[in-house]
Amino acid sequence: MTGAEAVDQVRRLRPGPLPRHVAIIMDGNGRWAEQRKRPRFFGHAEGAKAVRRVVTTARESNIEALTLYAFSVQNWARPQQEVACLMGLLFDYLGEERRTILDNGIRLQGIGEIDRLPGFVQKKLRSLERESANNEGMTLSLALSYGAREDITTACRRLATEVSEGRLRPEDITPERLGAQMMTKGLPPVDLLVRTSGELRLSNFLLWECAYAEIVVTDVLWPDFQESHFFECIDVFRSRSRRFGLTGQQVASIESVAGADRA
Ligand code: FPP
Repeated sequence: MTGAEAVDQVRRLRPGPLPRHVAIIMDGNGRWAEQRKRPRFFGHAEGAKAVRRVVTTARESNIEALTLYAFSVQNWARPQQEVACLMGLLFDYLGEERRTILDNGIRLQGIGEIDRLPGFVQKKLRSLERESANNEGMTLSLALSYGAREDITTACRRLATEVSEGRLRPEDITPERLGAQMMTKGLPPVDLLVRTSGELRLSNFLLWECAYAEIVVTDVLWPDFQESHFFECIDVFRSRSRRFGLTGQQVASIESVAGADRA
């Protein structure tokens, strides 16, 4: 799909804003493989193809930030063979998609305990991070050895150190200051969180950043996730009334003032 076609698809949806930041819990690779009586790695390999599709579609739809949950801190406890397969797929992805990422103005970053990844993956990731650092088209964050509770804990520890060294007063700790210590610093908050395979869990993903995210769960297993599913998720997002703790009436009056300002 070309950029113009993607923009056209988005225009065909109900009217409304685009989510600035889309985050996806890519679930169901294992079940997809089991349904086909194939080993789990087969599902992960197909899942990697879905990653390529969704990155291109999000970029072409002018999404500002896309964050994908590729490997959690807890995933290290999976069988060694499965972990090795996921690391191999990641390595391949970074190599094979390098040109697409650079040519499409995508800034790639890893979030998570990157130093726990095998050296060969770290090297590839760090090098593409450097090469794409000045791109402004879309920020693609790959959550790798990632855990939201771990990230929040590290951020708290950093602020606690500043307090203990007398550089920060406890009363000066604000959500913004804490957020600025986290790995997602600089990204907009998540507007749309998608989880595939029908599971209704957050699984330690972007707990801080999803404070006001609209959550869309689809029964589609991740390897089956197509461009059309991505657009359906945007459409559901647009059907939601986002109030950020305000009343519907307050939101309507803010929107009418904004509309008048634009006119
Ligand atoms: C969850 O499905 C998925 C993962 C733990 C790994 C996600 C990895 C990929 C999509 C492919 C590689 C990533 C990149 C960025 C190239 P599951 O295995 O838990 O599925 P199940 O719940 O059906 O067992």
